[in-house]
Amino acid sequence: MMADKDSDRRFATRSVHSGTQHIEGAVNTPIFQSSTYFLTDERYTGWAAGAQHTLLYSRLSSVNSEACVEKICALEGAEDGELFASGMAAISTTLLGLLSQGDHVVASADVYGGTYGLMTEDLPRFGIGVTMADMQDPASYEAAIQDNTKILYIETLSNPVMKVCDVEAMSEIAKRHDLLLVIDNTFTSPWGCQPIAMGCDLVIHSTTKYLGGHSDIVGGAVVGRADLIAELFPKKVHFGGSPDPHACYLLERGMRTLNARMPIHASNAAIIAARLEKHPMVEKTIHTSLPSHPDYNTAQRIMPKGTGMLAFVMKGGNEEALRFMRGLEIIFEATSLGGVESLVECPFNSSHMFVPEDVRNTAGVVPGFVRLSIGIEDVEDLWEDIVQALEHD
Ligand SMILES: Cc1ncc(COP(=O)(O)O)c(C=O)c1O
Repeated sequence: MMADKDSDRRFATRSVHSGTQHIEGAVNTPIFQSSTYFLTDERYTGWAAGAQHTLLYSRLSSVNSEACVEKICALEGAEDGELFASGMAAISTTLLGLLSQGDHVVASADVYGGTYGLMTEDLPRFGIGVTMADMQDPASYEAAIQDNTKILYIETLSNPVMKVCDVEAMSEIAKRHDLLLVIDNTFTSPWGCQPIAMGCDLVIHSTTKYLGGHSDIVGGAVVGRADLIAELFPKKVHFGGSPDPHACYLLERGMRTLNARMPIHASNAAIIAARLEKHPMVEKTIHTSLPSHPDYNTAQRIMPKGTGMLAFVMKGGNEEALRFMRGLEIIFEATSLGGVESLVECPFNSSHMFVPEDVRNTAGVVPGFVRLSIGIEDVEDLWEDIVQALEHD
């Protein structure tokens, strides 16, 4: 799916040009808001051959989804991919599509909450075993492998405490045991980490986040080994979590500026993290650029360019964290991440609301914990907003 010409081009050029369909001489891929396509002889032949990437019906693929898949493959260095209506559609189709009754997957309790729910509530209903290990500790994954294990499932960065996964070490374990390594790379985007080059078989994105980049769509993608994508395609067609052409258009448009946006997200976050770490009202700051981060060395190897995601713990607990959050004027209190605008949330009353307090504390989501998705606004405006919210009554 990655076009030959793309392999000679650098990341920024691929980000702008890869996948774009110049139909009727259009510079950008036009929106093909059509559920179905004429059945020509060529398409009948494509259908008979399995239909992947043949324009037949928009649940299978569309002009706009094809453009996005080609671009994501070019950015991740993947052989092939599929696009979905949400990150969770991508994750559930991948796991339910590749695993069968009696199989086993190793994951981590830190995975995204929706993924955790799928793994702990739904996979077991279909006779698929799940063992939770620790993404920060590859040896714990190896120890959890059973005779029936098929997949090791990881995330580049955990949410919200930003543990960094040693993707290279995980890849060695997966190879040694002949297992599939599947990674959710949403928190860094392919700009920040390229897991396929480190040995991952499949890379998943919630394109809702950095790839879309403007908080205006919900979407997902899986890219990686062509044989696995060919296995997943009929599952996507059966489960039906396919994206709408207009959402694909917005995704493609968003990805064209990925390489321009990401360095600003990451440098704004690094500047704010360094200042927060010195602020007297802050107990602890977590960002992969800080030498105080427990996985700093791993981060320098796996995702050296960084990310816009950071967290900190306010002195005074959740009451103080809420006071801070509600005092912000530029940074919006909202869930999600990766958009051009900065967002803030306190996990205790949002993403981790249903996680018992003792479990939250053990996971590092202690009272006063605040998560920030740093956008691309002027960093001084963001810092002034943070300082006034920290210090106002
Ligand atoms: C790391 C990660 N993966 C997957 C998802 C699910 O994506 P979506 O909301 O697009 O279904 C999210 C959503 O927040 C996420 O943060």
